[in-house]
Amino acid sequence: MTSYYLTTPIYYVNARPHLGHAYTTIIGDALARWHRLLGEDVHFLTGTDEHGLKIQQAAEAAGKTPQEFVDEIAPQFQDAWQRLNISNDDFIRTTEVRHRIGVQELLQRCYDAGDIELDVYAGKYCVACEEYYADDELLEGDLCPIHKRPVEYFEEENYFFRLSRFQDRLLDWYAAHPGAIVPEFRGNEALGLIRSGLRDFSVSRTSLQWGIPLPWDDKHVAYVWFDALANYMTAVGFGSDDPADQASFEKWWPARHLIGKDIIRHHCVYWPAMLLSAGIELPAGWAVGGWLLSGGEKMSKTSGNVVNPLDLIDEFGVDGFRYYVLADTTYGQDGDFTYEGLTSRYNSDLANNLGNLLSRVATVVGKKCDGVGPAPRADSPLADAAASAWDGTAAAWAEVQPNRALEATWSLIRATNAYLEANEPWKAEPGPAVDAVMGDALEALRIVAILASPAVPATSQHVWERIGLTGQVGDQRLPDAARWGGYPGGVSVVKGDPLFPRK
Ligand code: MSP
Repeated sequence: MTSYYLTTPIYYVNARPHLGHAYTTIIGDALARWHRLLGEDVHFLTGTDEHGLKIQQAAEAAGKTPQEFVDEIAPQFQDAWQRLNISNDDFIRTTEVRHRIGVQELLQRCYDAGDIELDVYAGKYCVACEEYYADDELLEGDLCPIHKRPVEYFEEENYFFRLSRFQDRLLDWYAAHPGAIVPEFRGNEALGLIRSGLRDFSVSRTSLQWGIPLPWDDKHVAYVWFDALANYMTAVGFGSDDPADQASFEKWWPARHLIGKDIIRHHCVYWPAMLLSAGIELPAGWAVGGWLLSGGEKMSKTSGNVVNPLDLIDEFGVDGFRYYVLADTTYGQDGDFTYEGLTSRYNSDLANNLGNLLSRVATVVGKKCDGVGPAPRADSPLADAAASAWDGTAAAWAEVQPNRALEATWSLIRATNAYLEANEPWKAEPGPAVDAVMGDALEALRIVAILASPAVPATSQHVWERIGLTGQVGDQRLPDAARWGGYPGGVSVVKGDPLFPRK
């Protein structure tokens, strides 16, 4: 069985989970669910990034020790993901022992390879980014280009990772792996960073206590990004001498990474260079998302424009929220989060299209077919629409384009609504003609439930049961399950309440 190991970034615990975090995690969840439908052996990882200066300062501000502080916030991420129906197979915290062991192993390997050396660093540092900046990268007044906050001047003895040695090796690797980063224009950004010249980066701090000590010099703790990136390997057993962990690493590595555009440098430049140095296989791929903006700015704790996803669930339902996040922005580009946008997507796509289709079908089957769903016709006029919905949905997920995938799935909903309107079964006398139309519509709904399930899993399961099917929609296997003709007929269709009451 093909294995598919998918990761999200691990989130800083200096803030509670917000819409920006939910955005990346929901996309990861939908992608993981899609690959499970394809029958792949999926391992979906998310987690929290708990070391570094930013967290240490946040803990101090809260009057807590760093450990107390992270122990309070990390479960809030776990709870949020549970409430958003995120199907992660594991959750890594960088304060776990399994992580420390693996980080130290990775550091040691790069050190033994001669790619980590001691040097003195003086420069301007943005604590929010946990990143040094050169003068020409800063905005006027020495402001961080991302956070628009003053940077701090640091001078200390650091160990450096000799990134500058990796330019050719990275360019060669990317040339040999076209399409490793999607969308393509984000891949070009990464190549641009590599071509513009690579500076060594510091991988340790002496001024900081909150982190993982270097295995060969415990006056230094590992730089938070070196520590954080390793999570993708430590979570699946890297660095452990337990044979079960080693087998797990063998099985799952390399990973596919979902990241935001702000962390391309770390993931597509630093990380592959670290892996090359350590002699470890490079990632299987990267998908890079844009930002979800609110009022034109990246939503972040630092900018103070945070939307709490959990408030939105209360109002729009988990699936209403998930659907909006997936359908409304083109992955890779920035998207703008608006309450109006959420309401209008909810009303048009969920209440009017999907909700209305289910309720019409259930009502007519109740009235004209004694509540028993008829079987579809083999030569239904909807069969082509179903086949192209499958093609379009599969192609879009393969390119990590959730909005296009949903557009393709929803095309079948629209075709089915139009088919009902053209045939007006609600006006006809019960009989074979009505049965034929309703069997076709039920079959279309069955296929829609499967294709939509990565995005709206609970809704899909609900549709599945309402049209009389048993078992879990998520246990269906594509492409077979999407072939026309799978609805058995002769099962009870339940009228039920509206799926998505209009707002
Ligand atoms: N801890 C690092 C990642 C380490 S991964 C080895 C970090 N954490 S973060 O919590 O600040 O952000 C994690 C990811 O969430 C980033 O890719 C970032 O782009 C994404 N998002 C945070 N805010 C976002 C939006 N407003 N919109 C979309 N994504 C956003 O960086």
